[in-house]
Formats: sequence, C-alpha cells, structure tokens
Amino acid sequence: MSVVEISGNIRYVGVEDRDIDLFESQYVVPEGVTYNSYLILDEKTALMDTVDARKTKEWLENLKKELNGRTPDYLVISHLEPDHAGSIAAVVEEYPQMKLVGNARTFSMFPQFFDINIEDKKVIVAEGQELSLGSHTLQFFMAPMVHWPEVMVTYEQKEKVLFSADGFGRFGMPEDDGDWACEARRYYFNIVGKYGAQVQALLKKAAALDIEKICPLHGPVLDENLKYYIDKYDVWSSYTPEDKGVLIAYASIHGNTAKAVEELAQMLKEKGEEKVVVSDLAREDMAEVIEDAFRYDRIVLASPTYDGGLFPCMENFLMHLKSKGFQKRTAALMENGSWAPMAAKQMRQMLEDMKDITILEPVVSIRSSVNDKNREEMETLAAEITSEKKE
Ligand code: FEO
Repeated sequence: MSVVEISGNIRYVGVEDRDIDLFESQYVVPEGVTYNSYLILDEKTALMDTVDARKTKEWLENLKKELNGRTPDYLVISHLEPDHAGSIAAVVEEYPQMKLVGNARTFSMFPQFFDINIEDKKVIVAEGQELSLGSHTLQFFMAPMVHWPEVMVTYEQKEKVLFSADGFGRFGMPEDDGDWACEARRYYFNIVGKYGAQVQALLKKAAALDIEKICPLHGPVLDENLKYYIDKYDVWSSYTPEDKGVLIAYASIHGNTAKAVEELAQMLKEKGEEKVVVSDLAREDMAEVIEDAFRYDRIVLASPTYDGGLFPCMENFLMHLKSKGFQKRTAALMENGSWAPMAAKQMRQMLEDMKDITILEPVVSIRSSVNDKNREEMETLAAEITSEKKE
C-alpha cells in the first residue's frame, strides 16, 4: 500500500480529516478518515473527484501544487455524496474552463446539491465509454448503489488503475499499520453492506479488467496482492460468513444478563469454540458490533425486557442489522424479564423479518438472575450452537 505516490503521472491530491467527530454523523473514526482525490497528468489533465467541504482549502492547495501551473481539463465525478463532491463548486469557480465528467444520473442529481450553471461543462458518459487524455485513457463503468445511484468507477487503461469510488475504502489513515480488513470491514458493512448484489455486479465487471492498482475514495491505495482485497469484497458482498465464531451481542440493565452471557461464553469455550466475542451493545461502538455480526457465522442475542418490549440498544442493533441486509446466519436467543419476559418474542420477530436466519432452540428465559434450570438450558443451547459450526 502506498500513501501518496501512485505513479509519475497519477498524483494523490487528497486530504486527511483527523478532527471529524463522527463520519456521516454516526461513525466514530478514532484515526480519522481520508477524502481521496487524484490527478492524472497527460496531454489533458483529469481530476478524479473532489473532497469534503471541510477540507476544500487544503485540497485546492494540494491540487495547485501538483498541477504545477497547468489547469485541470476534466473533473470526473464518480460520486455526488458530499464527502467527495463537497468541493465541486469551489473548484469550478477556480478553474471555470474545466469540463465535468459524469453519467446521466450524476447530472440529474447535480442541481440538488449545487446552484451553479454547468450546461457548457457537461461531458456525459455511459457504460464502457472511453475518454482519451493522450497516452492515458479513462473508461467508465456504472456502479449504481455502490453506494448511491449515480456512482461510477473509472478504469485507466495504460497504468491499469481502477478508481473504485467508495468500493475498497476504509476508515483511518493510509499509513496506519495493521490489519486493512479491520477498518475496511467496519466501513463496508455499515456503509455499503445493504448493497451486496450491486457490489457483486461491480466485482463481475472488475474481473474482466486487468487491474494493477485500486484507488478508492477513502484509505490506502491498494497496489499489491489485489486478490486478497477482491476476495474479501466477494465474501462480504455475498453475505458469506468470513470466520467461524460466535458473537454474543447483549444488553444488560443491572448486570444479570451480562453475567449470564459470560457463563454462556465460558460454556462455548469449554465445548471447543475458539472464537467467542462478547459485546455490550450499550457501551461498544455499534458499527463494530455490526461488523462482527457479519463477520462470524453464529450470533447470540441476549436482552432484558424493557417497558414490555426490547431494551432500546438491542432494538436499535436489530434494526441496523435488518437495514444492512443481515442474512444467512444462525442465531440463538436469551431473554431476561423479572415479571413478564417479552424480549425473546420481539427478537424472534425482528429476526424473522430477515433472510435465511435459523433460530436455535432452546430459548433461554431468565427471571432476573440465572438459576440452575437456566444453566441446563444454556448448556443445551451451547451444544446446539457448537454443533452448527460448519466445517
Ligand atoms: Fe465516501 Fe458514499 O461516500
């Protein structure tokens, strides 16, 4: 992975955002996020996307430096979401002769965001169309709903670079060491997760191209071992569990449900489960727990009853899972209720609204705190969960 250098003629002009409190007003990004933008220098120059309006000034400075006295001929707009399109008005004002390259949908949505006249600047492209810059040729492929309807990706034929829009993006800084998949997976399932079928369609198009580098709109440029990243996207977008393991997602008001899930976790480990992740929905980053729900093949939901229904963070979690297309998993249920337990019924109803979810028996129903009968049920449930581990 390289940070800034892509090639002599393809320059990184993106920016870092390390002080944003919540990306898209909902995701914590402890290491920040980048808004990537690239400049291709040839007989003609093409600018690949802009950046969030939070960083317009810095980005225009980066751009000016790399242009080195030239002006951009084209701005390719792969995605109109404001984290990438937020500086379009500013760059159009700075370089009024520049043409804007987008598809029909880009330009139909454009006036929703910008009150500027671009009639004489539009270059409308369609599936497979090419645009020559000199020795470099851009080819456009539509990627609707990865992650908005107007999204398209661009393949540069000479250097074999795929400008992949949000696809293959990741939270954090490009130079962050460690596991690319960790923050890429959290990004993928929370932002693009609902659109697995559309990502699969894009992967099919990408498979027909000879790609040497992937330049996404967030995170590092990918320039080696591309099969690793493409395989991850194939697994994620097909909703196939990535790893064998049990996520126990729980809520606990006064700690009794928490104690119960700790006991269940121990039982699972004693039965040979190597990966058991216990997550407190009230305190942990919801996006991280959603990531784990998709990552592992089995999930246990444990919740108290609250106001005759589900404890709010569990309800919120299940609503998120449904909206992200959660499917093809095995689930087990534990509830707690001091006088009228209702949580299991509600969790079951919400899971039944999702696709291909198998719910194991027995459902463990705790009255305030775990008793010996519950422990027997939990042993049986742990055995059932373990027997569902597919080799
Ligand atoms: Fe990074 Fe869908 O915007």
